[in-house]
Amino acid sequence: MVDRDKQSGLGADEETMATSGLSRRAALGLGAAAFGMAAAGRSSAQVGSSGPLAVASANGMRGVKLAVELMASGTDPLDAAIEGVAIQERDPKDRSVGLGGLPNADGVVQLDASCMHGPTRRAGAVGALEGIVNASRVAKAVLEHTDHIYLMGEGAKRFATDLGFKEEDLLTPESRRSWLRWKGRLNPNDAWLEFDQEHLESTHGTINMCAMDQQRNIGSVTTTSGLSWKIPGRVGDSPMIGAGQYCDNSVGAAGSTGRGEANIKVCGAFLTVEAMRNGASPEEACLATLRRVVEMTEDRLLEGGKPLFGLNFYAIDKQGRYGSAALYEPTAERKARSDVAGKFAVADGKGARLEDMAFLYSVQQRPAAMG
Ligand code: GLY
Repeated sequence: MVDRDKQSGLGADEETMATSGLSRRAALGLGAAAFGMAAAGRSSAQVGSSGPLAVASANGMRGVKLAVELMASGTDPLDAAIEGVAIQERDPKDRSVGLGGLPNADGVVQLDASCMHGPTRRAGAVGALEGIVNASRVAKAVLEHTDHIYLMGEGAKRFATDLGFKEEDLLTPESRRSWLRWKGRLNPNDAWLEFDQEHLESTHGTINMCAMDQQRNIGSVTTTSGLSWKIPGRVGDSPMIGAGQYCDNSVGAAGSTGRGEANIKVCGAFLTVEAMRNGASPEEACLATLRRVVEMTEDRLLEGGKPLFGLNFYAIDKQGRYGSAALYEPTAERKARSDVAGKFAVADGKGARLEDMAFLYSVQQRPAAMG
């Protein structure tokens, strides 16, 4: 798990994988009671915002504020969201994205990102991109300058450098040290000596942002360095249109952070938008998608029917309502360690703030193996 920076609200969304190394309403057939436990005690916006609105994973606190300011002065919602997530992409302390993101098993930072623009119905994405800090801007360039949607690896990098994106080393000394620490602990019989006994970070961390302007035009973006220590070439959910994020200008937008492999199988962002199309509120839609994730989880990743990983969804709808849900309520230990545990970032006419996420399972329902 990424260590939290309480000052900047970094890396807001993660649950440690317990298996290390694998480690609608009516329309959905679910009554309000099905969501009652998860919604208890939380304020969730059910009255739509009329001005600019931005919702993100908790590491997007600075980003949602900027995105709303930009939209208030006329910036397109996708451009505003991309400027918002670019703050985290450039911040070396956020180990889940861009510069300083934790690398793959070879010690190489490989970035994934995707975006959608509601008014034009266009999409762009990059996967396994190396050496370019703002993967979200490259995804936007794919959307803007090509008839393609998804560029990968070397081709994505060449596309970016051809357009003038600067190439740079994204592996910070801190991330390199974390990688070496991981390598040193892989096999007790290898020739590596353990560097130290410090807590070993790992992450599925990501930043997702959905934004809507005064005209109720919508954009969404998700950007990440993906699963730490991944097999080189592994691409997660973030760059997959319909999984990492999805936007339909007539309905709303949704995105995800957490274990990408679980999200990909349910096309989670698309499913969430479809639930909203069928009448669910954003929060109900996020919870309904999490239920589908549980149904689709393989036995090896379940304990007592509950997933051994974390996954989160964020959504806004055309009425200006918003919501977010996680698989698990954060434990007291997690809350003590981080003031962003179980929260998501929102900005609108009332300012920027963290709000509580809904959750599918309470602390008491958490599998022991999750810790
Ligand atoms: N959701 C980020 C990843 O799994 O890559």
